[in-house]
Amino acid sequence: MDKEVSDVLKQFSPIPASERHQRWLLKRHPIGDPSVDDFLFVEDVVPMPPPGAMLVRCIWLSLDPFQRLTWNATPRNAEIVPLYGTLLGDIVGEVVLSNHPGFARGDIINEVLGWQNYALSEGRGHYIHNRAGARKVDTALGPISTACGVLGRTGLTAYFSITRELVPKPGETMVVSTAAGAVGSLAVQIAKIMGARVVGLTSTEEKCDWITELGCDATINYKTVNNLGTAIARAAPQGVDMYYDNVGGPIADAVLGNMNAGGRVTRVGVSANYSQVNDDGTPWTWPGNQPMFIIHDYIRDYPDGLVQLSNWIKDGRLTYREDVIDGLENAVAGWLDMMTGGNRGKRIVRIGPNPDGIA
Ligand SMILES: NC(=O)c1ccc[n+]([C@@H]2O[C@H](COP(=O)([O-])OP(=O)(O)OC[C@H]3O[C@@H](n4cnc5c(N)ncnc54)[C@H](OP(=O)(O)O)[C@@H]3O)[C@@H](O)[C@H]2O)c1
Repeated sequence: MDKEVSDVLKQFSPIPASERHQRWLLKRHPIGDPSVDDFLFVEDVVPMPPPGAMLVRCIWLSLDPFQRLTWNATPRNAEIVPLYGTLLGDIVGEVVLSNHPGFARGDIINEVLGWQNYALSEGRGHYIHNRAGARKVDTALGPISTACGVLGRTGLTAYFSITRELVPKPGETMVVSTAAGAVGSLAVQIAKIMGARVVGLTSTEEKCDWITELGCDATINYKTVNNLGTAIARAAPQGVDMYYDNVGGPIADAVLGNMNAGGRVTRVGVSANYSQVNDDGTPWTWPGNQPMFIIHDYIRDYPDGLVQLSNWIKDGRLTYREDVIDGLENAVAGWLDMMTGGNRGKRIVRIGPNPDGIA
């Protein structure tokens, strides 16, 4: 293209002419544990925003265990991610073109936009996975990547489930499963801030060492103990007052066998079930008849929660670890590795660079 013409076009669109739209699609519904062959990485033309929409350059992608459920062939999930549809995921990105009255070029937003490097958004959020809609990221609170983690739904989950649902009293014992994960590593520290005694469960000695640094009073490597129930009884000699359940399955059974009378449980997630297949070959589905913590119940309180989490970080009372995978093309491998315990803290994918001057 003639340089003069190219320079004129740049004033209207900051997207280089050579740029391609890259995304991960669901190629087939996994049965049981997914594999890389269930997905397809494709490239096409970067879309332009119609009236009322904006084009977002995706910078950070959150990898989450629950995403597994959206790859199942159940009617609800097939609607969220149809075959050959873009995978669903929480994004931090930069608005690069806007025909939306509420967002301007240069805004940094957090929104469920999918596993892709550019996305169109009407700012409405997702009817199941982000009822709060697109939110502008407050760069004064922390680096923008944290809007996918400690200063996003991950941190808010740990914060509200502990401060509003479990509400530890000083000296009570809390057991946290998946304690070195994104939510778990924050849950450990928030429970300590509230004065609880914390027992953390995870899968390697190195992770046990890390959660000890975060404040765990005792740790258990659930992969190496002979009897998890006995190990929990030893680590919690006064019994378990609260269970922070990130995983479900046999780990939850072992903790629940050690609960004190009147003990409290917050069932935040059931990662052990997400890839399970029922006896009739159908995928496991979310147990609608059982009480679960749901972060969307606290949408109105998100701003307060974010300020509190940010203040704790600034005061040095809360630390967080980002476990970064570089490149959208490596996102599926990063997700599969996370579900076999490969992550420490919050696993996110760096899709592209932060805008100049923004941390
Ligand atoms: N209810 C809500 O609103 C809400 C919001 C956010 C997250 N969640 C849920 O909270 C839980 C934690 O989420 P997260 O984002 O912090 O992820 P995460 O804990 O960082 O997820 C990865 C970790 O899960 C553990 N894991 C995976 N499969 C497992 C299995 N079959 N058995 C035992 N452990 C397994 C592994 O830790 P180890 O190495 O320790 O085994 C792995 O490192 C998930 O269940 C998620 O769905 C719920």
